Amino acid sequence: MAEEKNNNEILTFVLQGVFKRFPLRMVHGVPLMKPIAQNWQRIEEFQARTDDLLIAAYPKAGTTWIQEIVDLINNGGDVLKARRAPIHNRIPFLEICSPKPFPSGVNILQKTPSPRTIKTHLPFQLVPKSFWKLNCKTIYVARNAKDCVVSFYHFDKMNMMQPEPGSWHEYLQNFMEEKLSWGSWYDHVRGYWDEKDKQRILYMFYEDIKEDPAREIRKVMHFLEKDLDEEVLQKIVHHTCFQVMRENPMANYTSLPSFILDHSISPFMRKGEVGNWKHHFTVAQNEAFDAHYQHKMMGTTLAFRAEI
Ligand code: A3P
Repeated sequence: MAEEKNNNEILTFVLQGVFKRFPLRMVHGVPLMKPIAQNWQRIEEFQARTDDLLIAAYPKAGTTWIQEIVDLINNGGDVLKARRAPIHNRIPFLEICSPKPFPSGVNILQKTPSPRTIKTHLPFQLVPKSFWKLNCKTIYVARNAKDCVVSFYHFDKMNMMQPEPGSWHEYLQNFMEEKLSWGSWYDHVRGYWDEKDKQRILYMFYEDIKEDPAREIRKVMHFLEKDLDEEVLQKIVHHTCFQVMRENPMANYTSLPSFILDHSISPFMRKGEVGNWKHHFTVAQNEAFDAHYQHKMMGTTLAFRAEI
């Protein structure tokens, strides 16, 4: 017992030195964490399969929420099955590259049996082409820019693999200048929006799911061609509400060690609200953001209900 504890401590010590805040590197004009950039060729050449389901989102848009909803739908609302493993193991993250000896998302997915559900934060143009050639189904979730940047700021403080976020003011500036990991929020949400009728993309909004989760979960069920009865639907609504997911160690990322995600700095399941940005933006920041936003979003039919 004592020896095992000792070994765990040694392992933790070694891993702490391996996991660190990585700088960003440009990949086709998009800043990505250095290990992702270094592994880019393998990601780009990733072979999708016809029955793959892709869950795509800009970071902090509600990716984990949709992942949990999809996993429950795929398991007929069986909560115990959905608790079989942490969410990042149930639905692998395509582009993630942890330091050696940990397997990359690509390695894990190559060994995952079909049908696979795959998470990505890549903007549309960087998603491996095989997904679009095979006409794979994709669920995209978008969240209003202001709540996204606030959530991302707190996440970057607690995520020990992401670059140091700096001050809130600096961070907001970097978001507007499209310098954060995974690049431009504006291009991300617009990129999938522009393709949604050409590909099999279900385009969802975080704010809509908050407003009426049952209605939105029904849309996902329909898209996945799953016919679950009302009782199961209500069970899924309950098990994917913020309060329940926050307490679920298989959904709240507390299963990862603190040298990767440090929940003492900020919990992964932080607020789960629409409009939390109002507690962070100053009046001046809000005005500057709005002006820049209008310019960036000009000419699109895409609109967010919590916008401005
Ligand atoms: P906040 O930081 O605003 O709380 P992602 O999974 O894309 O990284 O997004 C994480 C954000 O989604 C966090 O936002 C998190 O709290 C929120 N979230 C996760 N599950 C949720 C749920 N069931 N209901 C509402 N928000 C949820």
